[in-house]
Order: sequence, then C-alpha cells, then structure tokens
Amino acid sequence: MQSDRGHWGSNAGFILAATGSAIGLGNLWRFPYITWDNNGGAFVLVYLVCILAVGMPIMMAELLIGRRTQKSTVGALRECAGRWWGVFGVWGVLCAFLLLSYYTVIAGWSLYYFARTAAWSAGGYPVGLATGDLFNAQVGNAGLQLVLSLGFSLATIAVVWFGVRDGIERLARVSLPILFGILLLLLVSALGMSGSGQALGFLFQASFSELEAGSALSALGHSFFSLSVGMGAMITYGSYLSRKQSIVKATAAIVALDTGIAIVASIIMFSVIFSVAGMTEQVGASPVGMLFISLPELFYTEVPFGVLLAPLFYILVAVAALTSTISLLEVVTSYLIDEHALQRHRATLLSGAAVFVFTIFAALSFSGTPFLSSLAVFANKTGWFETVDHFVSNVMLPTGGLAVTLAAGWFVSRRISHGELVDGNQPGWFRYAVWLGFIRFVAPAAVLAIIIAVLLGTDFS
Ligand code: PFF
Repeated sequence: MQSDRGHWGSNAGFILAATGSAIGLGNLWRFPYITWDNNGGAFVLVYLVCILAVGMPIMMAELLIGRRTQKSTVGALRECAGRWWGVFGVWGVLCAFLLLSYYTVIAGWSLYYFARTAAWSAGGYPVGLATGDLFNAQVGNAGLQLVLSLGFSLATIAVVWFGVRDGIERLARVSLPILFGILLLLLVSALGMSGSGQALGFLFQASFSELEAGSALSALGHSFFSLSVGMGAMITYGSYLSRKQSIVKATAAIVALDTGIAIVASIIMFSVIFSVAGMTEQVGASPVGMLFISLPELFYTEVPFGVLLAPLFYILVAVAALTSTISLLEVVTSYLIDEHALQRHRATLLSGAAVFVFTIFAALSFSGTPFLSSLAVFANKTGWFETVDHFVSNVMLPTGGLAVTLAAGWFVSRRISHGELVDGNQPGWFRYAVWLGFIRFVAPAAVLAIIIAVLLGTDFS
C-alpha cells in the first residue's frame, strides 16, 4: 500500500506541481472577471492582502499537516489534530470531487476554443460571426459538451494513473515552462497595444471609493480558490514531500507565481479590451464571458500576431486547467489509496469514473435538459452547474478553510508545527510566531467573516 503513495522526485518538481495546481481557470478566467466586476485597483490590493494574510498561512498549514503525517486529507487531519477532524477531511474530499466535476466542463471549453482558433488561424476568421453566437451554440450542444468533458476527464485520469512522480510531476515540469513562455509572448504583444496604459491604470491605481461592500469578501473567497486551499489539495501534495524541503520557501514561491500569473493574465486581457472601442461596455455587461466570448474575436481583429497567439492561448488555458484538475482528482484518489487500501490504478479509475457521472450533469446544464437546466435551489442560480458552483464556492470552500485553520492553529501541537515550519539549523522563532498569530487569529476571523456574509446573502460564485 505504501508503495502506491509515491514521492516527489525533487524540490523543484514539487514546487512546479503545486504551482500547477494553483494556476488554473481561477487565474485566467475567474480573477480577470471578478477584478473587472469589482472595478480593479483597490480590489487587487485587497486581494493581495488576503493572499498574504490568509491564503499563505493556510497553505503552509496544509503542507505541514500533509508532510508530517505522509497521509492524504482524511488520515492527515485525523492523525494531526484528533479523531473527529477526519470528518473535515471527508468534507474536503467531497469538495474536491464536486469542484472537479464542473471545473472539467469549463476546461473542456478551452479544448473547443483551441480547435476553433487553430481552424480560424489556418482558414481565416469567419465573416459575420456575431459575438456570443459561437459560445451559445457550443454550450447548448449536449453531445459536444459530453465529448469535450469526456476528453478532458480522460486526460486527467491518464496523468493521475501514472502517479505522483511519473504523472503529476512530469506533466508540471514540461507544461509550466511552456505556459510561462506563452504568457510572456502574450504579455509583450499586449503591452504594445494602445489600451495597455489604461489597463495598467485600471489594475494598479487604487480608488477605494469604488470598492463595494462585498468586494473584500469576494477577494478572500477567490484567494482560497486560486491557491487551491480549503479542500485538502495541498495536504495531499504535502504528503509526498520530503523533509529536506523548506515549506516556508516553497509556499512563498507558489504564492508569488500564482499571484503573478493572475495579474499578468489580467494585464493581457484588459489591454486588449481597452484597445477596442465599445468593448468595455460589452464586457461590462457580462464579464464572465471575457475569456470565451469577448476575447476570441479580438485575437483576429486587434491583437498583433493574434493569428499565432490565439491557438497558443487556448492551449495554455487547457494546460493550466489540466495541472489543476489532476490535483483535484489526486485528492479523491489518494483518499481511496490511503483509507480504503486500493491500488493506484484502481483508485484512479474508480474516482475518475465517479466524478465523471457528475460531470455529465454539469455538462448538460446548458442544453435545455429537463431538471439539469432548470434546477433552482438558490436564488438567481439556474441549472445544475450554477447550483453546484454556488454550493462549492459559498459553503464548502469557506467551511473547509475554517476547519484547516482551526485544526492547524489550535489542535496540531506546537511542537509539530514548529518542527515542520522552522528549518533545523535556524532559530526561526519570530517567523513561527508570525505564522501562529495569523493561523490562530487573523485567518479564522477572516474566514468567519466570509461565512457570516454568506449567511447574510452575499454570493461568491
Ligand atoms: N487553483 C485552481 C485555479 O485557480 O483554477 C482551482 C483549484 C484547483 C482549487 C485545485 C482547488 C484545488 F484543490
């Protein structure tokens, strides 16, 4: 059983894999649109504070719990914090399961847009295609949605099947440098556009008078999502970590890369959007569609070298999503390996197939399928996809995050957490005390604020 768990091959391999988990649709799709929705500048600043004060201490907590126990979410929490904490581990596994089920659908869209843009680049952009038509046609096509999600699920299963070192780490080693390279190309191209100055001003000039009441809480909720914390993914990745790695330094690297990429993606998208007359109004009406509705056409009409960059960009989105979906499937798979003594291959197939059943429900949410398209549990949320997304973002992630902060801050002994966070030959008490203060008081207070806001009706999905 132990041999099925695996280990990272190197420190750099782990950092790349964890960064791959963090960088995903959250950075390329969600961060730009919620930043737009919350008027930029001040929101970005609040987001950075949330990342540093809440997300980062929680990531360290998850990694230390995982590494100490060398177990996945359920066993790790149980062993480190006490028997009953295993329940929150199960909650985390369920959260990863559900998030993966609909995240795969959006990831599948990136495959479609890759194929489309590759065809346009070869054969020319179709004359007279109205904005939004393509998107609506593809989400409304049930068969297409099933094929795309199945393709993406199979890719995820294939990577996890090969295990921690030969699957997850190997993919991250190859794909992340490519991803950084493509983003750099796009950034250079975007900075040359007329709207880039306005984009930078929008992102970096903070005007607190424009900040809305719910913005701080959206920033906090998104910081969890973006750093992949709150559902045990980092506990699981930490459980394959050797004692030679510094958790503090690794966390700093992962957080810096994840946040940097979210900001670079926003600079790129906003530069394009601000360069086109009338586009700010169009995006303003529906910022959620920035990535899949506004952007595709603009590659062909506005972006320098857009013909080359468009397919590269959508393959980048797909790769970024894949390095995240594998971490979600790994949470479920490692639970089956550790708690139910399944072999990796069997555990991967079983978890992948079970998640796919729910992916089918999410994939059919947009095509007028009875029940799935009309389900209405929460106000203003229609269909299976929106309902599950709302439940995961508003209920599961904040409660999972709160459980991890409380477990690490108050129930894991200080001897353990100090031993994991402070490198052997350094005193490091100050650094440890700062972490302890944040994990015991600041992070739980902030997460509680989210939960109270949710109870009062704020929506983070
Ligand atoms: N961090 C990923 C993103 O930004 O898209 C989403 C995610 C992946 C969340 C894995 C949680 C997780 F365990």
